[in-house]
Amino acid sequence: MSNPSSSNSIPDTQKAWLAVKRGTPAQAIRFEENAPVSAKLKKGEVLVKIQAAALNPVDYKVLGMLPNFIANRPYPLGNDIAGVVVASADSKFTVGDEVFGTIWVQEQRKTKQGALAEYARISAASIAKRPADMPPTVAAGISLVGLTASIGLFQRGKLEPGQSVFINGGSTAVGLAAIQFAKAIGCKVTVTGSTAKEDKLKALGADEFIDYTKGPVYDTLIANPPTPKFNVIFETVGSIDPKLFALSEAYLAPGGTFVSVGPQPEGNGKFGQIVNFLWAVFRPTWLGGVNRKCSIFTVGEHPEELARVVKFIEDKKFTPLVDSVHDFDQVLAAYDRLMTKKATGKVVVKVDPTVA
Ligand SMILES: NC(=O)c1ccc[n+]([C@@H]2O[C@H](COP(=O)([O-])OP(=O)(O)OC[C@H]3O[C@@H](n4cnc5c(N)ncnc54)[C@H](OP(=O)(O)O)[C@@H]3O)[C@@H](O)[C@H]2O)c1
Repeated sequence: MSNPSSSNSIPDTQKAWLAVKRGTPAQAIRFEENAPVSAKLKKGEVLVKIQAAALNPVDYKVLGMLPNFIANRPYPLGNDIAGVVVASADSKFTVGDEVFGTIWVQEQRKTKQGALAEYARISAASIAKRPADMPPTVAAGISLVGLTASIGLFQRGKLEPGQSVFINGGSTAVGLAAIQFAKAIGCKVTVTGSTAKEDKLKALGADEFIDYTKGPVYDTLIANPPTPKFNVIFETVGSIDPKLFALSEAYLAPGGTFVSVGPQPEGNGKFGQIVNFLWAVFRPTWLGGVNRKCSIFTVGEHPEELARVVKFIEDKKFTPLVDSVHDFDQVLAAYDRLMTKKATGKVVVKVDPTVA
């Protein structure tokens, strides 16, 4: 389809960090001066001039896992963006709109678009207008983790105002959003984190803090069971240890849900780790399984939940946190930071050096 609304100055080529093979970011991405710009829009798409990109663990996990014949590379790495619409084939957005959103992993292998580039074609249902006064380097990190937190708590966990939620991993980027969303609707929030994170997580609204470095979290919860029990447990770390669920009858209320971003195995024996986890959480009770519900999910396009996230921002109930901002030529250093698993908030790359 031709572009019904577009700027005159869209180039044919762009600078981009292309994922070219399976491996670590240092092995498998390449800076390209003249990557093609895909400017021909389908109905319902917009072309965004990217100002900032935010990194996510899924970037390096998919890069390290899938061979080219499945991933359909090359294309720019990364999913989360903030930028300006420069062409639109959708009625909700016009040229000049400042937006943020996600090029979903599920779509990326088909569209071959990515965040670490100057331009990207993206479904209008995967973006929203950037909240007023929010810099692109902050807005870039909202969508993927904001939607994960929102879908996890409200769609999967069915969390209601006044209930009690336990967030395993309060200082993951997903957890930082989830704390604020749960507080925004008036819930009691208990979180885990490492020792140094306690003050920060309490300042965000966490009522109770458990230091996971001092011993297994399930032991602490069994020794000091919450009263009443949690209505929702939201596991945001990607732990492969099924015990937090397996022992949850002691601290998760009957009818409550254990929601998980999914076990994220590492090292050798990944398949076995996943099978072990799934058997523990989905085994029927008549085979000795746990009498609680478990919901594992993968985030994707969800305009209604994205609108809820934006409303939390507009109502000043949600402040997206940034760990660090890196220049476009420092993408590998940015991935090094993310891969420490110690970032508190989003690791962001400035694609346009002039933005804040
Ligand atoms: N299913 C989905 O669709 C989906 C979507 C988004 C993310 N994810 C997954 O969710 C996980 C979190 O993603 P993210 O981007 O939020 O991660 P992130 O921001 O990179 O996580 C870093 C944080 O994790 C904390 N952490 C590390 N190990 C921990 C542990 N054992 N217990 C508690 N906290 C721990 C660290 O805090 P401390 O300094 O306190 O250790 C650090 O602040 C990743 O595994 C990611 O792949 C899944």
